[in-house]
Amino acid sequence: MPEIPAVSRRLLLGGALATGATVAGVGAAQAAPHDGADLAAGPSPRRGPGQKSMINVPFEARRTVRVGVIGLGNRGSAMSEGWSVVPGCTVAAVCDIRADRAKRVADKLVSQGKPRPAEYGGSDDSYERMLRRDDIDLVYIATPWEFHHRQGRAALLSGKHALVELPVATELDELWDLVDTSERTRRHLILSENCSYGRNELAMLRMAHDGLFGDVTNGHGGYLHDLRELLFSDTYYTDSWRRRWHTRSTGSLYPMHGLAPIAAAMDVNRGDRMTALRATATEPRGLADYRERFIPKSHPSWKETYVNGDLVTCLIDTAKGRIIRAEHEVSSPRPYSRINSLAGSRGIFEDYAGTSATGGRIYVEPDHSGHAWRDFDAYRKEFDHWLWTKIGDDAENNGGHGGMDYVLQWRTVQLMRAGLVPDIDVYDSAVWCSPVALSVKSLALGGRPVQIPDFTRGAWVNRRPGLDTGPSEMPPVD
Ligand SMILES: NC(=O)c1ccc[n+]([C@@H]2O[C@H](COP(=O)([O-])OP(=O)(O)OC[C@H]3O[C@@H](n4cnc5c(N)ncnc54)[C@H](O)[C@@H]3O)[C@@H](O)[C@H]2O)c1
Repeated sequence: MPEIPAVSRRLLLGGALATGATVAGVGAAQAAPHDGADLAAGPSPRRGPGQKSMINVPFEARRTVRVGVIGLGNRGSAMSEGWSVVPGCTVAAVCDIRADRAKRVADKLVSQGKPRPAEYGGSDDSYERMLRRDDIDLVYIATPWEFHHRQGRAALLSGKHALVELPVATELDELWDLVDTSERTRRHLILSENCSYGRNELAMLRMAHDGLFGDVTNGHGGYLHDLRELLFSDTYYTDSWRRRWHTRSTGSLYPMHGLAPIAAAMDVNRGDRMTALRATATEPRGLADYRERFIPKSHPSWKETYVNGDLVTCLIDTAKGRIIRAEHEVSSPRPYSRINSLAGSRGIFEDYAGTSATGGRIYVEPDHSGHAWRDFDAYRKEFDHWLWTKIGDDAENNGGHGGMDYVLQWRTVQLMRAGLVPDIDVYDSAVWCSPVALSVKSLALGGRPVQIPDFTRGAWVNRRPGLDTGPSEMPPVD
């Protein structure tokens, strides 16, 4: 059974209709100036033989979900434990190019009373052997970015669904290839966007759908995280893979954590679409400055030249004339933020800005007046997503980014076991990751706008639920 989106209270009361406006705005959207002539817009490539849309395609229901994990560093090892505690989920196999990491994760799971997963490792193609198993339903990929496309594609071709860490691919042709391969194999490939399941992000989404901001006109998100110490650590990122990306190109390497929740709140691919992107970049100063002050001259990083700008900003137009500002900044001193701000004709929400327990602040008419911010707490309570009211305590006890890792894992398993339509599909995954490649392109053109492909091939005009679903149960475990 498809899930029915929650009915909007303000919609029923006849308030501002963010949702209704989306449907009504489609005709106008196609003629919007952002979608157009100056960008040499071409049609999306035609579907190949045997390809069909994956929109609204449910998972086939199953009793249990058996996960195979590729990449067992910081992320993959923590997430392996996370999978193992979700009801009805087991870790069937684990793989890392470094075989000792597969053994370490398998030992840890056994020490926690879980079945021992099969171990794969020893070479960079060991995952291909793991994919030949017929007892894996979902492949979770947490390797460095350069491997995601190849491994995600291989998982689909082996007949498994895939949940891939950010970004699912770093080039446009690779994103199209993942869309095409998913459509051909009838397997889902999903960006493992845990921040889409953040408690404040989901409340922001529900507030937008309830019309609290009136007509949503703009949003601002980002990934602003001082990673300098970790980037120069010799033990954190394996072989310093993440620092090396800063020597390769100027672009927004990882904006998705802030972009995806804004895009979801604007119903991107569900009534609106991202059409064009222009990027700016500051000079690359932070990493070289940090190295100068803290890293011995004998360190291998002294052979590197950092070319990526410290702050890379993408301005994204949508078909309905909205603007998204998505930022990436990991190389300067600053406290952590994903910004999460959404605004429209009736008000604004800003995360990471308030002093209240929830960390957000808000100002919406007619509730507020007088030009003064208000605490978000009461709104978070009113608009808390059912996933958090249902499993929030479990999520917080199971750690991982304030609980959103567990919510993502629980929900993925629930969708698969109950045979529901994924909240995030391959089209969302592709378009949310497209700024990685497109920002490089725009910056190479001096910041000129570049067109964002329509990975849905026109289906974006149709309203459909995404992350804002009505409540549903996890099937019982026998
Ligand atoms: N969503 C989130 O909140 C979040 C948080 C942290 C990391 N990540 C993502 O997770 C991924 C991994 O990051 P990390 O911090 O764990 O890095 P890491 O360096 O700690 O781990 C990467 C692992 O992949 C392994 N590996 C490399 N090539 C492989 C191959 N061909 N086959 C099998 N294993 C291979 C390495 O040996 C290493 O163990 C990245 O994509 C990162 O962006 C996401």
